[in-house]
Formats: sequence, structure tokens, C-alpha cells
Amino acid sequence: MSRSDAHSKAIAAILAAERPARPWLDGNQLPWNEPTFSRRMLDVHLDPSTHMASRSPDVIARHLDWLAAQLAPNAGTESHILDVGCGPGLYCHELARRGYKTTGFDFAPAPLAWAKATAEAENLDCRFLDADLTALPKDFAAKVGPVDAITFWFGEFHSFPPPVAVKFLSQLADCLKPGGLFVLEYQPMDIFVTEDSSEWAAHEKSVFCDVPHLWLQEFHWDEAARAEVHVHWIIEQQSGNLKRYIQCHQGWPDDELVELLAGAHLVDPVFHSPVTGIDEQFEFPIIVTRKATARSGKE
Ligand SMILES: C[S@@+](CC[C@H](N)C(=O)[O-])C[C@H]1O[C@@H](n2cnc3c(N)ncnc32)[C@H](O)[C@@H]1O
Repeated sequence: MSRSDAHSKAIAAILAAERPARPWLDGNQLPWNEPTFSRRMLDVHLDPSTHMASRSPDVIARHLDWLAAQLAPNAGTESHILDVGCGPGLYCHELARRGYKTTGFDFAPAPLAWAKATAEAENLDCRFLDADLTALPKDFAAKVGPVDAITFWFGEFHSFPPPVAVKFLSQLADCLKPGGLFVLEYQPMDIFVTEDSSEWAAHEKSVFCDVPHLWLQEFHWDEAARAEVHVHWIIEQQSGNLKRYIQCHQGWPDDELVELLAGAHLVDPVFHSPVTGIDEQFEFPIIVTRKATARSGKE
């Protein structure tokens, strides 16, 4: 196929795509666990000038100062903390430097390998597991826990459809000691943009592609599902190759989030503002709940 045919075919495919894309049915998450994507994403995680995938070390340090204050009434630095979707393990490493025992899990190969190598090089008390939150093994809690706290930073929680969230929340709660903390950085309803829009940019390279390309983005809010659908189209300059990636984010009103957590025996919710307020786009509020104890009658 000639170059102009390939470009023409790519544009025809974009024009022909069914719109709007349907949340969860047409796609759901970035391809975090795809090896090449994860290699590119690792660079974004480790770039302190952007908070797009991971926070800079100073922000992580402030998040962990805040976490220490939450943990203090229970246990101090002897606490064992489980970090969900730990990426390159930046939170786990810093916690371990502060004396905590940590376990992080993720399914993105390059960040996970970097997390392990860094812990080994610094001799940190961190364990990293390759696990998919949507398909946790039956013995996951036995393997990991019981832990004093679980952290789920960055609002990635919203990239799973409700039935999947119901399932993994109760599996995560099984890893917690009674009274242990579940710390969830969440995206409140008011940050979701409910007007559809699109934009494009040309890039030499990006997290989606190593060669020059056009990156088109379409945003759609599905009111019935209360979910945002974010479509990425990548057209390579040279070849005209076209790829489409679809991300969804589920909106959870505060009261429904509290109910969802309570269904997993995560109770006594306390809402906190974003810890640093440094980055309006990539830092969110936090809800802290506790694993119900036998005494609260909810376990
Ligand atoms: C925005 S990044 C945040 C990484 C890390 N928590 C941080 O703040 O530095 C989201 C992370 O969630 C991970 N993730 C997404 N879906 C996952 C799944 N199904 N199982 C395990 N990890 C997942 C991704 O691989 C990625 O590392």
C-alpha cells in the first residue's frame, strides 16, 4: 500500500468509527501491562517534571508524611503497607527508607522490574508482586497479609467498572488487619467534564508511539453510565499506521463510594482534601476507611 493510501485508510477508519464509544464495552484502560507501552510509561513515571503517571519525589514525601499521621494512632513505622498499582514502586521505596515494611503490586512489567531492581540496589524492605487487580489469585490475602494499611494512590481506582471494583475491594479488604486503614485517592464527581470535546497534537514520540505521529483525543461523558470515555487515536507519520486506545473513568458520587466501601467492610469514612494542592489536574482528595472489627459487627 502506498503511503497516501495508508493515511487515507486511517482517516476513513476514524471517520467510520461508531460514536460515541461505549464505556467499558469498547475499551477500558490504558495498555499498562503491554511490554512496549510499559517501557515508555516507565520514563513518564520517572520524569519528576510531570505528575501524569507518578508524582515527583517531593510530592510523594508529603503524601507519606500525611500517611504517617493517619497511621500513628494504630502503629508506627513497624506497620506493613500494601500499595495497589504501585507502578515503579516510588511510594514503597520511600516508605521502606522511612522504616516501614511494604508490599507493592502491579501488572506493568517495566515499572515492576524497575521497582524490584531499585529495592534490591538500596537493600530496601520492599516486596513487589506481579498481580492483576482484576484477577487476584485466591491465595492473595494469605500471600500478602495481614497488613496494617492499604494505599491506592492516584485515582486509578476509577478505571474499573463497578462490578470489578466490588470484587477487588473485598479481596483487598481480606488483606487488612481488623481496624487497618484503606486509603483511597479518588476522583470526585466534580472533576469529570460532562461536555464532549476533542483535540489533536503532533508528537515526535509519546507514551503511545516511538516515532513521529498525530495524536487525536476524543472525550465523551456517558450520563447513563456516569463514566467518561477517552479515545486516543494514533496515526504514524511515516507509515500511516492507525491505533486506537480507549480509557474509561467511572464517576462515583461520595455517598455511593461510601456504600461501595462499606460493602467490602471498609467503614468509618473520613474525607480529606488533596494533600499538597500542588497539581489540580493530577492530585485528588482521599477517603480513609477502616476494616470493620468484630466489635463493630460488620466483619
Ligand atoms: C497512574 S499509575 C500510578 C502508579 C503509582 N501508584 C504511583 O502513584 O506512582 C497507575 C498504575 O496502576 C497500575 N494498574 C492499572 N491496572 C492495574 C491492574 N489491573 N492490576 C494491577 N495494576 C494495575 C498501572 O500499571 C500503573 O502502574
